[in-house]
Amino acid sequence: MQTLKLGNIGSLVTYDSKVKKMVSYEDIEIVISGDKVIDIGKNLGHADSFFDCKQKLVTPGFVDCHTHPVFLDTREDEFHMRVSDGLSYEQISNMGGGISRSIEGVKNSSESLLISKVKSRMDKFLVSGTTTVECKSGYGLDTKTELKSLRVIDRVNKKHKIDMIPTFMGAHDFPTKFINDKDSYIDLICDEMIPEVAKQGIAKFNDVFCEKDYFNLDQSEKILSVGRKYGLHPRMHADEFYDLGASNLAADLNVVSADHLMKINCKGIEALAASEVVGTLLPGTTFFLGKHKYAPYKELKKNGVQVAIATDYNPGSCSIHSMPFIIMLSCIYLHMNIFEAIKSSTYTAAKSLMLENEIGSIEKGKKADILIWNLSRAEEIPCSVDSQQLNVILKNGKSIFTS
Ligand code: NIG
Ligand code: FE
Repeated sequence: MQTLKLGNIGSLVTYDSKVKKMVSYEDIEIVISGDKVIDIGKNLGHADSFFDCKQKLVTPGFVDCHTHPVFLDTREDEFHMRVSDGLSYEQISNMGGGISRSIEGVKNSSESLLISKVKSRMDKFLVSGTTTVECKSGYGLDTKTELKSLRVIDRVNKKHKIDMIPTFMGAHDFPTKFINDKDSYIDLICDEMIPEVAKQGIAKFNDVFCEKDYFNLDQSEKILSVGRKYGLHPRMHADEFYDLGASNLAADLNVVSADHLMKINCKGIEALAASEVVGTLLPGTTFFLGKHKYAPYKELKKNGVQVAIATDYNPGSCSIHSMPFIIMLSCIYLHMNIFEAIKSSTYTAAKSLMLENEIGSIEKGKKADILIWNLSRAEEIPCSVDSQQLNVILKNGKSIFTS
């Protein structure tokens, strides 16, 4: 197989699993063969072709481990209600806005229209340096439309250069007709949706919005446990707006990832720290909703919770595609240093998708998902998010973007 050498690298910033920490290497070369990194070191031998990185920064491709991209239209009217009328996301949602307003659009859209919408959204993720993205269903809330949403993810994934990791999220909200009979919707999810999703093999994860006025602790536990029996790995939206103790449940169930955590309490932090659960923080949502209390990264870190960051891209509460933008927010509002933010958006994000042995760092044997920047140092990333700073994006060892 042909080999490609990346040389004249200014600095290679990546997680290194041998030393179990972020590293920054200078005067280093990377050799790629097929879709994999086959060697990293100094003064490596001949390769079939050579790419001159011109002393610039090289990092792994970003892994965005939490998005909701299967919808028809964005709900910008809700943004203006928040900024002009001072209403909160929860108030707008209680007035009939929020997730439930995106359901009709998905139900009534053809699969091909949704495919073209999702495809162009994926184009935007990719040019921002995201090479793997988790994608949730959850704007269908009936068996047919949830399956349609997952099929859309599957179809786009088969054609698109980006890798999409599918998550079933029938438990995103309650359909109007079940509002007075919520348990029947739980039964529908458990008895019909999950078995069919599993039979079709079109989702890896099963996610639940465990939140006041959405899915309570018992309902969440049931849905996640049934999903697990069918081979769907559990993840949760936990402690976003209210502290229900969702993080404790996440730890008890040993879910793969507990996401949001804006309202997590001390017990929840301790429970996550004692578990293997990744805490995925979504500062773009806090920012976009105009909230002021960000997830307590410092506390999570102090207690030893492994933290990922992601966009939470969706039609209502966050319209951000760009992981560099999320890195900037994480530095400013979560008080991460740049190396922590890069680790959280690459290696730990891959871990939250159970993919840390394949992607999320530039190491021998891993996929060659690599960003070659126009920047010289990692520290420049959060200070230059208002323009494209990528020179080349390699996905599976192939150049798929050049500025
Ligand atoms: O993660 N919290 C639940 N789901 C999304 C919001 C989706 C929407 O408003 O459409 C979130 O923020
Ligand atoms: Fe979400």
